[in-house]
Amino acid sequence: MMEIDPKITAAEIALYLKMTVQAIHNKVKSKGLKVKKAQNKAYFGHETARVIINHNVNQLKIAISVVKGGVGKTTLAEALAIRVALYGLRVLCIDVDQQANLTKGLGMDEKAKHCPVMIDLIEGKAKAEEAILQVMPGLDLIPSRLDNVTLDGYMMINRVNPEKIFNKIFEDVFKNYDLVIFDCPPTLGSTVCAAMLCADVVISPLNPDVYSYEGIQIMDKEIKNIREQFSKDINWKILLNKFDSRTILSTGYISQLMQDPAYASRLLDSVIRTSQEFPNMKQKEKTIFDSLKKSTAKEDIDALAKEIIEIMKIHSKTTQAAK
Ligand SMILES: Nc1ncnc2c1ncn2[C@@H]1O[C@H](COP(=O)(O)OP(=O)(O)OP(=O)(O)O)[C@@H](O)[C@H]1O
Ligand SMILES: [Mg+2]
Repeated sequence: MMEIDPKITAAEIALYLKMTVQAIHNKVKSKGLKVKKAQNKAYFGHETARVIINHNVNQLKIAISVVKGGVGKTTLAEALAIRVALYGLRVLCIDVDQQANLTKGLGMDEKAKHCPVMIDLIEGKAKAEEAILQVMPGLDLIPSRLDNVTLDGYMMINRVNPEKIFNKIFEDVFKNYDLVIFDCPPTLGSTVCAAMLCADVVISPLNPDVYSYEGIQIMDKEIKNIREQFSKDINWKILLNKFDSRTILSTGYISQLMQDPAYASRLLDSVIRTSQEFPNMKQKEKTIFDSLKKSTAKEDIDALAKEIIEIMKIHSKTTQAAK
């Protein structure tokens, strides 16, 4: 049974709020909040961060999706979800991949055996509330199992409308969260289409290799198709993953991509570098935020989390109402 214990330090919260560490400690003391200590550093969990930061954000739903496998969808979904929860926001991850890598990565595969998954919700055999597992304070999961392999077929045969289905199923659940993240399989079936239509933002990771680039081009076509078919404008973003500064500038097709305004405008500012920390922590059944040591992985995911929280501040209620 894996035990994860992700942390955020007082210094990191101070940096986020542009306050001194001392001011953070004073706040914690005056509010009687919990602080833990390790390696001579004060750190918090979700609850303390939530009270101290006191966010003013709008709900955001993200689908992490691209037809190419192994580009880091699940790795990024997991790390982002944990980091945003550590900043005090309430996060729900929805695993719609029958490989269930996110469910396993979050250490929830044993519990998932006895928990309803997406296929049960779509078939009306369970309610969304019954499918929620708590991963850690501030982070919940709708898990997945191999049973979800029949999702696309079920949706096709029963003519389930992908535009409405997830909002309908999760109507009572979404309101409890600030951020919802769908981790999609590397396919373009009905389930992925439904996740993309439900999301406010679709994020496709791109690696510095030619196959990954082809995946982005296929996504571009598919998103245009969905846009036409459902007359819904999908806010599509590209996230560079497994990069280092040298390859960004040296790879031909990346510079080609940057020169194409259609793609360049879609790039998120954050770039996730290749880091052994991701597979290493996975192997130890820990997360990159369990350790208080500095790492490029933590640094990059922290920047991504902050960028997403900024989008949540801008993302207005009016855009939600217009959908
Ligand atoms: N920035 C990174 N640095 C190093 N390794 C990474 C990074 N991002 C992802 N990986 C590794 O790449 C592998 C594939 O990642 P992951 O499972 O997240 O991809 P995926 O897109 O979700 O795959 P699938 O399409 O099968 O769902 C994993 O071993 C993961 O640890
Ligand atoms: Mg995956």
